[in-house]
Amino acid sequence: MIVNLNTAAFLLKSGDVVAIPTETVYGLAADAFQLQAVKKTFQMKGRPADNPLIVHISNTSQLSQISQLNVEERKRVELLASVFWPGPLTLVMQRSPQLPDLVTGGLSTVAVRMPDHEVALQLIERTGPLTAPSANRSGRPSPTRAIHVMQDFGDGLAVLDGGNSRIGLESSVLDITQTPFVILRKGVVGAEEIERVTGTETLLRSDRDLRRSPGTRYTHYKPEADVRWLNPDEEMPDGSIFVMHTSSSPDGGDDILCYDGDFDTLARDLYDIFRTADYQNKKYILIEDLPEDSENPVIQALRDRIDRAAGS
Ligand code: TXA
Ligand code: MG
Repeated sequence: MIVNLNTAAFLLKSGDVVAIPTETVYGLAADAFQLQAVKKTFQMKGRPADNPLIVHISNTSQLSQISQLNVEERKRVELLASVFWPGPLTLVMQRSPQLPDLVTGGLSTVAVRMPDHEVALQLIERTGPLTAPSANRSGRPSPTRAIHVMQDFGDGLAVLDGGNSRIGLESSVLDITQTPFVILRKGVVGAEEIERVTGTETLLRSDRDLRRSPGTRYTHYKPEADVRWLNPDEEMPDGSIFVMHTSSSPDGGDDILCYDGDFDTLARDLYDIFRTADYQNKKYILIEDLPEDSENPVIQALRDRIDRAAGS
């Protein structure tokens, strides 16, 4: 059911879970310091207990409750927060012992971000830090609209509707506990921008780093429909949705989505396209290959999510 801000805050403080809007995707929120509530989010999602959660804050003074930073780490966090927060960048830092172990999957670090969404920020101001994994059942695409949350959890779950998520892809996850920094999950904030701001070399996760972002080990959402990169020489099978980003599109049909170089909008729509294709019993989702050499982090994050959905 849809609830308002007052009700959402009340439910969260009472130890209940509430789906909340953010600029990236909707989250399944719980009070970060109420173990039973956090446990419930794992159970509802069907999420393995060793896959840690992101703690969401509304102002940097809350950091002292959840993290324990040395001088160097504090400087890094302050600089990155001043430029990128509120926004789609999650920082992995040393955790506070006060935080329930379940939040961090037993790791010595905690992932933190400040969402760039007015409703979420107002809520967290009232409740304090909230854990929030994406509000989908494990194995489904992240929800970018309130209706997606309801598709996965039914009407029994309280949903704070903050409109469609503006970005549509999950946040970048950056490990700053060591240098060079490591991007554990690609998002719309890219390595180049982080390097420019911090002057610190920033690498992309290698397989060696996989164990540091446990979530990336698990299978990702694959729609019922086959997701494939479009091969222009191939016969177009019936029952397909085409996702194009140049203006040269295959002829005719209602099932051709044209983005005409607007990758931000494609990112915003991607998970809705996946969900809609399954709802319509499509056989294929054929996506025009993205520009290979692009350093645009939106394109890189899109490629990452589409590759995973395609199982490549
Ligand atoms: O955009 C987002 O980040 C959304 C919205 C709701 O904020 N949340 C989200 O949460 O995508 P979730 O739980 O679906 O993904 C969290 C990711 C996982 O890949 C997890 O393994 C990683 O963050 N993570 C969490 N804590 C970590 C830690 N201490 N060290 C390394 N990776 C961590
Ligand atoms: Mg998720």
